[in-house]
Amino acid sequence: MSEKFVIAIDQGTTSSRAIVFTHAGEVHSVGQKEHEQIFPAAGWVEHDPAEIWNNVREVIGQALSKANLTRHDIEVVGITNQRETAVVWDKSTGEAVYNAIVWQDTRTQDIVEELAGDEGLERYKQTVGLPLATYFSGTKIKWILDNVEGARERAEAGDLLFGTTDSWVLWNLTGGVDGGVHVTDVTNASRTLFMDLKTLQWDEKILADFGVPRSMMPEIRSSSEVYGTVHTNQLLREVPVAGILGDQQAATFGQAAFTAGTAKNTYGTGCFLIFNTGTEIVNSTNGLLTTMAYKLGDEAPVYALEGSIAVAGSLVQWLRDNIGMISSAPEIEELAAKVEDNGGVYIVPAFSGLFAPYWRSDARGAIVGLTRFANKNHIARAALEATAFQTREVLDAVNADAEVPLTELKVDGGMVANEALMQFQADILGVPVVRPKVTETTALGAAYAAGLAVGFWKDLGELEANWSEDTRWEPAMDEATRERSLRLWKKAVTRTFDWVD
Ligand code: G3P
Repeated sequence: MSEKFVIAIDQGTTSSRAIVFTHAGEVHSVGQKEHEQIFPAAGWVEHDPAEIWNNVREVIGQALSKANLTRHDIEVVGITNQRETAVVWDKSTGEAVYNAIVWQDTRTQDIVEELAGDEGLERYKQTVGLPLATYFSGTKIKWILDNVEGARERAEAGDLLFGTTDSWVLWNLTGGVDGGVHVTDVTNASRTLFMDLKTLQWDEKILADFGVPRSMMPEIRSSSEVYGTVHTNQLLREVPVAGILGDQQAATFGQAAFTAGTAKNTYGTGCFLIFNTGTEIVNSTNGLLTTMAYKLGDEAPVYALEGSIAVAGSLVQWLRDNIGMISSAPEIEELAAKVEDNGGVYIVPAFSGLFAPYWRSDARGAIVGLTRFANKNHIARAALEATAFQTREVLDAVNADAEVPLTELKVDGGMVANEALMQFQADILGVPVVRPKVTETTALGAAYAAGLAVGFWKDLGELEANWSEDTRWEPAMDEATRERSLRLWKKAVTRTFDWVD
């Protein structure tokens, strides 16, 4: 019998990718295409849903053809996605009524304040695990219904559907107007502000408070089960689609962080630390989100605490695209390596306000500590260090919430190729940082969820056996330097508050 593979579609913030994996969990081939980032106004970030769907189809073709594969070689499809990004489309035309409003977008600040009213930002936190914030998709759906002409009437008439990009891709992949499946998984549903973490169902009262008709919402399913098969007009026709995980949860799954107390940190556009709390719902008192880790078929749901950092790799992109300081992202590492330290410069990239542990939508970015001595090498270094400092603050929050402190951090994502950053990360955390051999953990996690559902992999033990360590960075910075840097970082953070008037 010829070798079989699993394909994962990773619909990310900056690009869509399709990755073919072997049974050993190794990357066999990759297709990738970036999509346009649309910035119509300060704080607004959009994507074109039609472009995203076209790109997904194209990258599936690339991944298959690079490895000379056809649909007959593919056992199952998994989907992972940028979370919280909201698409609203017409179910009879398949056309989006507005661009996708991206998770980084802050236009819904007024909606957040209005909903918070006297009850405050945490009014739904006990039920959904999240504070009211512009980050989550619920506020974005409301904005579309309130601001796109005719959208509310069409939604109330049952003509419109909502989905994060997992649902958008799945609906199109399984036939679109021709019988597309309108489903999401628990991890994506847990980022809307509408899902009750205990029942794993939409909370009717919260939907009503937001004025979002129930009929728009996808059905909530587990992260690992057969949702449908690819439509006959697609390249992968008749292959089952059987795994969905939001990208950060997928990375947690791909890192084999299956037991309570294990964690991972993914350095992508943003940076997200997820700490598995097992079957227990833990309420954070330190600025973390309570969220789903995954649910496998009929098994009990697994929960997590999450420290979300809005800006990590996207700060490097900003220095490249908006400021022109570098011409390609890897250049940042060369510049940063030219100096011993940050020269007193700190960058707090509060482009979307500040997420964990502060949740300050009123914050905006700042570069502080500038002197005539500072040059672009210091700025480059400060840009990289910002990610490490933010991660340290999230780790402190995890340690404050959890019974047992984290003794090491598993890392993945694009920025972990940067050795100097990983060393600095270990220095600032004071615990070792560990990078696995396969760093494509996001796509791998989605492949695993799909493969488990159809018996391609038999159990979690088999997935755990696929994980192996590649590099470990031990902390080497002296305590006094670490504490001083952190103190200055925290001071810099306070300079970004209360900026929106
Ligand atoms: O919550 C947003 C997150 O899912 C996006 O991840 O990969 O773009 O940093 P990424």
